[in-house]
Amino acid sequence: MLFDEVILGRRSIRGYTAEPVPRALIEEILGLAMRAPSSYNSQPYHFHVITGEPLDRIRAGNVERILAGAPDSREFRTGQPMGGVHRERQIYVAKQLFGAMGIDRDDKERRQDWVLRGFRQFDAPVCVIISYDRIMADCDDAPFDCGAVATALVNAAWSRGLGTVINSQGIMQSPVVREHARIPDDQIIMKSIALGWPDMSFPANAVVSERKSLDEAVSFVGFDQ
Ligand SMILES: Cc1cc2nc3c(=O)[nH]c(=O)nc-3n(C[C@H](O)[C@H](O)[C@H](O)COP(=O)(O)O)c2cc1C
Repeated sequence: MLFDEVILGRRSIRGYTAEPVPRALIEEILGLAMRAPSSYNSQPYHFHVITGEPLDRIRAGNVERILAGAPDSREFRTGQPMGGVHRERQIYVAKQLFGAMGIDRDDKERRQDWVLRGFRQFDAPVCVIISYDRIMADCDDAPFDCGAVATALVNAAWSRGLGTVINSQGIMQSPVVREHARIPDDQIIMKSIALGWPDMSFPANAVVSERKSLDEAVSFVGFDQ
């Protein structure tokens, strides 16, 4: 696939077939992703690749805690609740997804189902948890480097026909993930990526999210025009 086709074609995939993903293919994708740059080439990230029974235990544990009202236990700062234009964009993409799925605004049951789907890692056959070395805890470059490698991973996966969705839902109940993925204490849990073969009949998979314009995103300095 051409680079442009990968970048323009990739979108988050929230419905998967049950077909397993061969370990060799996951290794190939991770190898490509790790060509991403990192601060001083420090490569502070680690991938915990989970499938089968341990992943099912994570799904069950996440759902159980969410339904019990357990507080969010993300291991990184989340800042203020989103407001302004950021919140507007969040609402817009949610409307796109609910629209595609035919979930009405007042349909509490289906909305709840949708949320729980995220906590089940979208029923994907594989989940990749990205963590980074705790010794880098005070270094903002480390989460930046995790983002870079995550972006490379989702694009590498797409180039091989695999779908992904980077998500926070999978790591909001971090003790569940830490226990069942056996993540040592010297790692900070950063993000989750669901991975698998896209179910192209799943309506939300057709959603193409919008981007702000270049004018909004870019300031050119020192150019003639
Ligand atoms: C840091 C991060 C966290 C995200 N968390 C979630 C999540 O918890 N649930 C979800 O459904 N999508 C999540 N997403 C996916 C975004 O909603 C998605 O990337 C965005 O709407 C743009 O759509 P696209 O990936 O299809 O281009 C997350 C993406 C990122 C980068």
